[in-house]
Amino acid sequence: MAEDDREVLSQCYGCVNALTFSRELQWNDILVGRGARREMGIKKVGVLGCGLMGSGIAQVAASAGFETVVREVSEDLIQKGFAGIGKSLAKFAEKGAISPEQKTETLARLSGTTSFADFADCDIVIEAIIENLEEKRRTYRELDGICKRETIFASNTSSISITEMMTATSAERQKRFIGLHFFNPVPLMKLVEVVRTILTDEAVYEEAIEFGKRLGKVPVRAGDKTGFIVNRLLVPYMLDSIRALEEGVGSIVDIDNAMKLGCGHPMGPFTLGDFVGLDTTYYIAEIMFNEFREKRFAPPPLLKRMVLAGLYGRKSGRGFYDYTKDPKNPTPMNLV
Ligand SMILES: NC(=O)c1ccc[n+]([C@@H]2O[C@H](COP(=O)([O-])OP(=O)(O)OC[C@H]3O[C@@H](n4cnc5c(N)ncnc54)[C@H](O)[C@@H]3O)[C@@H](O)[C@H]2O)c1
Repeated sequence: MAEDDREVLSQCYGCVNALTFSRELQWNDILVGRGARREMGIKKVGVLGCGLMGSGIAQVAASAGFETVVREVSEDLIQKGFAGIGKSLAKFAEKGAISPEQKTETLARLSGTTSFADFADCDIVIEAIIENLEEKRRTYRELDGICKRETIFASNTSSISITEMMTATSAERQKRFIGLHFFNPVPLMKLVEVVRTILTDEAVYEEAIEFGKRLGKVPVRAGDKTGFIVNRLLVPYMLDSIRALEEGVGSIVDIDNAMKLGCGHPMGPFTLGDFVGLDTTYYIAEIMFNEFREKRFAPPPLLKRMVLAGLYGRKSGRGFYDYTKDPKNPTPMNLV
């Protein structure tokens, strides 16, 4: 895998396994063509949001042969998202992972809209809008009245409870409400967590698992507990590394190197935190702490202070490392 692809992968949100997965990825395995594995009810896919995640989800759905409609709040944002999809597909074509015809066919299956009405006949709607409970509930309430009875509602949320969103919809829809948690970048990352609530209909859940496979992903089954599987295990590890730093167990560089070289992790916890965004990490930790009331999910004081001071990681130029002078060779910050 080329170095620039590794770099894209290394920017994976909340997934320490990004580069580990990448070692197993074969370009030809990433995409498509496997759509005809077995007949299923899902033919038309709706995607809400065409940001980082929504555009990736729309791309894999269209690549897998589904007619895919994407909703954004403005035409400009649709154009921006579709430009990203075009670029990504061009890169796959360049690598020989897809043919130029496949690229053209994939783009032909995609359409953009600013209206909810175009989702009426979707078999599944995957929501990847901003991580805001009220906005998500408002959107689901509106869609519930527009989509056909059979439409499955799926959220890509990282931290909000599926149950809390599902209760914005009718009792019938609640049985057809699941989580589909993809990882960034969606076209490359093989995992999808398929999340069921205590009301999810068994047949709907199995259909969602099959759908995940048809997208070329490896679905894992998870219950509706905040953080699902990956963040449940990853977030306490990242928070613990900050506590270790606070307690003087090791320096930023030594803790990062220890986990890289001693455990074979593709990157250390501080490098990962800076990629994910420390504000995002803090936000998720708060939600998880509120849910479980366990110390291991509590954001350490240093993390809170870094976020208050605007040290969000790579995106703000400084986090555990300073990226402002030489982003490729960041220097550790003096924090404790
Ligand atoms: N960023 C990640 O790495 C990542 C990974 C896994 C899951 N998630 C989850 O995916 C979701 C989206 O995250 P993102 O990083 O793509 O965010 P993003 O900010 O890149 O994109 C969100 C998009 O949703 C649009 N939007 C807002 N309200 C809308 C509405 N009502 N209808 C349609 N579009 C609307 C916004 O204009 C924006 O373009 C969040 O729930 C997040 O928790 C993110």
